[in-house]
Amino acid sequence: MPRAVIQGVGMYVPPRVVTNEDLKAFYDTSDEWIYSRSGIKERRWVEEPASTAELGYFAAQEALARAGKRPEDIDLIVFATLSPDMYFPGCGVLLQHRLGLETTPALDIRQQCSGFVYGLSIAQQYIETGRYRTVLLVGAEIQSTWIDYSPEGRTVGVLFGDGAGAVVVEATEELDRGVLSTHLFSQGAYARELCVAEPSSATRRHELPGSYGMRPYMNGKEVFRHAVQRMGQAIQAALSAQGWNPEEVDLYVLHQANVRIVEAVAEFFGLPMAKFFNNIHKYGNTTSASIPICLYEAQAEGKLKRGDKVILAAFGSGFTWGSAALIW
Ligand code: UT7
Repeated sequence: MPRAVIQGVGMYVPPRVVTNEDLKAFYDTSDEWIYSRSGIKERRWVEEPASTAELGYFAAQEALARAGKRPEDIDLIVFATLSPDMYFPGCGVLLQHRLGLETTPALDIRQQCSGFVYGLSIAQQYIETGRYRTVLLVGAEIQSTWIDYSPEGRTVGVLFGDGAGAVVVEATEELDRGVLSTHLFSQGAYARELCVAEPSSATRRHELPGSYGMRPYMNGKEVFRHAVQRMGQAIQAALSAQGWNPEEVDLYVLHQANVRIVEAVAEFFGLPMAKFFNNIHKYGNTTSASIPICLYEAQAEGKLKRGDKVILAAFGSGFTWGSAALIW
């Protein structure tokens, strides 16, 4: 059975840096509050108009180049985003066309902050069954265009950033590296604890009062509590499946929602923070893009090397969560 291996990683963030200080232009907030609660110092926001598929395209181009692949080599595109360019169709087909491809299958997935881990699991399954050999997996988000800029929006609005990450997942016959296992979970009982409920097919447009827009809602404390517990369980599932001790894992890459969540997970396993790669201070929460952006930067900084034991874990809206164990 072939194994799925991440061959090339790419990332793209818009050049516009928005600091915590900048957010004071429309929120009653402070750098001290944002940094101490979340670990975020700044994030990237697009200049409008912008396109999530286009952000994904920039990241995909780099991932393909680093994997030594051309667009024609791709057998399947998996695009994870909660902020697509259109209500439908999804960004996958837009990226496929942008890459100059004719009929390559493109699949959009809506697993929010867990999108990359879910997407990696999909790529792994297609590759292990022998159906496809090369899967392009992209996580991309533009969140600055729909966050709530009114005073009530400050708790959620300060957390999110724009960006994209992409990986080329390829079949390999080498059995000393690649994706060893993925572990997926969800719990729809908590769907409304972190959501953007509109636009919705459940509501007729002309019946909506006032402006018709997207407005995120998050029960921050409840989400935080679940995130720590569920990411811990997902990591434990990966450790158990591989028979690994927490200490022997070289690098943990967790979805970047809040550095305090990562600290709580590290404490639960009795691990030093040095085992966890974090860059939330630069980008905020980029949802489906956060893990591939971390992989890109960890590799660039020499913190992710061939042969390393790596665990990825994510938690987000749905609730959805999951993990992956891999040898880099
Ligand atoms: O990616 C998906 C997963 N998302 C997450 O995992 C996020 C999980 N949740 C969190 O990270 C945290 O709950 C937050 C960072 C969102 C909030 O931290 P918190 O410690 O739970 O703060 P809080 O919501 O309880 O608010 C504390 C205070 C409140 O004031 P009072 O009622 O104590 O007077 C808020 O009104 O902080 C106030 N506040 C703010 N103050 C300044 C809320 N937002 C802000 C703000 N600036 N931006």
